[in-house]
This record gives sequence, structure tokens and C-alpha cells, in this order.
Amino acid sequence: MARSSFISEGVRQYLVDLAGREPPLFEELRAETSRTRYPGMQIGFDQGRFLQLLVQLIAAERTIEVGVFTGYSSLCVAQVLPPHGRLLACDVSEEWTSIAERYWKRAGVADRIELRLGPAVQTLDRLIAGDAGGSFDFCFIDADKENYDAYYERCLMLLRPGGLMAVDNALWGGSVADAEDTRADTLAIRALNAKALADARVSASLVPIGDGVLLAYKRA
Ligand SMILES: C[S@@+](CC[C@H](N)C(=O)[O-])C[C@H]1O[C@@H](n2cnc3c(N)ncnc32)[C@H](O)[C@@H]1O
Repeated sequence: MARSSFISEGVRQYLVDLAGREPPLFEELRAETSRTRYPGMQIGFDQGRFLQLLVQLIAAERTIEVGVFTGYSSLCVAQVLPPHGRLLACDVSEEWTSIAERYWKRAGVADRIELRLGPAVQTLDRLIAGDAGGSFDFCFIDADKENYDAYYERCLMLLRPGGLMAVDNALWGGSVADAEDTRADTLAIRALNAKALADARVSASLVPIGDGVLLAYKRA
């Protein structure tokens, strides 16, 4: 579990002890990712378990991930899908997703994951144009922050009523609460949090796990 700005060190340690060790393959992927240029981009074990719980709660079968990186969160989601379940995994980077692909194979979930390389807005637009609107159960958004609103709107179209969206980095290390932080990514995250919490199309909640997860349930 990554260090958190939102809970005390004592509570963090309690959660770490309670969660136990990561399964060996996840531990190996975390170790390999820690040797890349961006070890901090990967979600923590506690958040991975949380995503798995969400997917299981709604019995999701058709899922989307925007922002794959080396594959940790996609591995979490794919592992709890039924054998016929599918994860459409969107990223721009061949370098990072080639690591992900190795772990998907080793975990025996590669046949549940379809990688789409390219800017995710275009990938999602193609799905919508191809009549896939309303056909997905779960979306996890964890890519470039300035496109968060674009991903939110597209994923909302792609979700079925009763589907669930989870958006990572909703607290952005606490920056969203610092009015003096006007960086473009902070502004984008702050705007989406406010929009989703007031959006009549969804029931939304912001959960302070990991770097914060915005949850939006698509109302019928
Ligand atoms: C924070 S990382 C994702 C971490 C991943 N969810 C995990 O837990 O390991 C963000 C990813 O978004 C990808 N990304 C950035 N801009 C993108 C875009 N326009 N379209 C699709 N993917 C993009 C990056 O290549 C990177 O792999």
C-alpha cells in the first residue's frame, strides 16, 4: 500500500497488516514497475482489491480501462471477471503495455483483455459510433487528467443504466483542496469532482482510498 496523505501512518500500517501480502504475481509486477521511470503511476494493493470488490458487486462482464500502464489495475479487474467477461484496455504506450501483456498471459487472463493502442478519446468515440453505447458494466479511468471530462462523458454513454465508473486520482495528492493550485490537471480533476457530485445522471461519491477514487453510478 502506497503512502497516503489522507490517513495517519498508524492507520496505514493497520490496513497493510490486515490486507496481508500481495499475491506473488502482483508483487512481481510491482517490483518490475518500481524499476521503470514512473513507479508512482501504479495503483496500490488496497485500491486493487477495492476495484475487484466493485466489479464483483455489480457482477460486471463488459468493462473498460482508460490508462493501462504496466497492467496492475487491469490485472485486478480481469482476474475477477467471469471467463467470458471482457476488459477493453486503452492506452497510448506500447512500451508500458508490453509489460502488462506479459503479466496478463502469466495470470491466464490475456484472452479476457483486448488492448486498444491509441488516444483513448478516439478509441471511446469509435466504440460509441459502433453502437456500443449502453453496453458496458464498469469503467476505470486512470489516464491523462486534462481529458478526464472527455473520458467521463464518453464512459457515461458507454455504460448501461446501473453501470459504474471509477475515476482515479480524484484527490490528486490533496491538491484539489488547495485553492492556490491552478495547474491544468488539478483544475480538470477538481472540475470533474464537482460536476459528478452535482450530476443528476449519476449517483456519485468520492472515496479517499489510494489517491482518491470518484465513483459514479449511472442512474436508470
Ligand atoms: C497512471 S497510468 C495508469 C496506471 C494503471 N491504471 C495502473 O494501475 O497500473 C496512466 C496511463 O495513461 C496512459 N495515457 C496517457 N495519455 C493517454 C491517452 N491520451 N490515451 C490513452 N492512454 C493514455 C499512459 O500511457 C499511462 O500508461
